[in-house]
Amino acid sequence: MKKTSGKLAKTLTEDLTNYSKILEYSSKLASFDNDNIRFTVDAGVIDRLGNELVARQETAVSELVKNSYDADAVEVSHTFINSADIGGRLIVSDNGEGMNRDQLVNGFMRISSTDKIQNPYSEIFNRKRAGQKRIGLFAVQ
Ligand SMILES: Nc1ncnc2c1ncn2[C@@H]1O[C@H](COP(=O)(O)OP(=O)(O)OP(=O)(O)O)[C@@H](O)[C@H]1O
Ligand SMILES: [Mg+2]
Repeated sequence: MKKTSGKLAKTLTEDLTNYSKILEYSSKLASFDNDNIRFTVDAGVIDRLGNELVARQETAVSELVKNSYDADAVEVSHTFINSADIGGRLIVSDNGEGMNRDQLVNGFMRISSTDKIQNPYSEIFNRKRAGQKRIGLFAVQ
């Protein structure tokens, strides 16, 4: 444990933006805590849920269109670039309200509940928002 906390302290001082190392050491330190048991989740869950919740590719794309609709967009385009290969890309571009960094990190990329349940109608066009389950991230997967 001392060795791990030393490594964590060193990374925090010398390599503050090495987030994967910081996460690795913090998680390892938490495993030494025998008095408390924490929930953990493996990144593989995203893969599994993606396949189970959104089995068809057409459904996955329609989830992305629904997100643009919910964001009051009137135009959306999806550009697939080598998307069948590792490192491929999917560019989603629409003229809706968009996301700032915080909304992207804590809204789209975080597995949690959706604020569309509290805000069921869109701001500009008063559209009844389709999103409810937070499966858009899995659709992308
Ligand atoms: N094209 C977009 N424009 C603006 N915000 C978006 C867009 N796509 C996603 N978001 C934001 O990311 C959040 C998460 O999207 P996600 O599709 O995972 O869940 P949801 O739309 O809330 O519910 P559902 O899973 O039923 O679609 C949305 O609630 C919205 O705030
Ligand atoms: Mg959605």
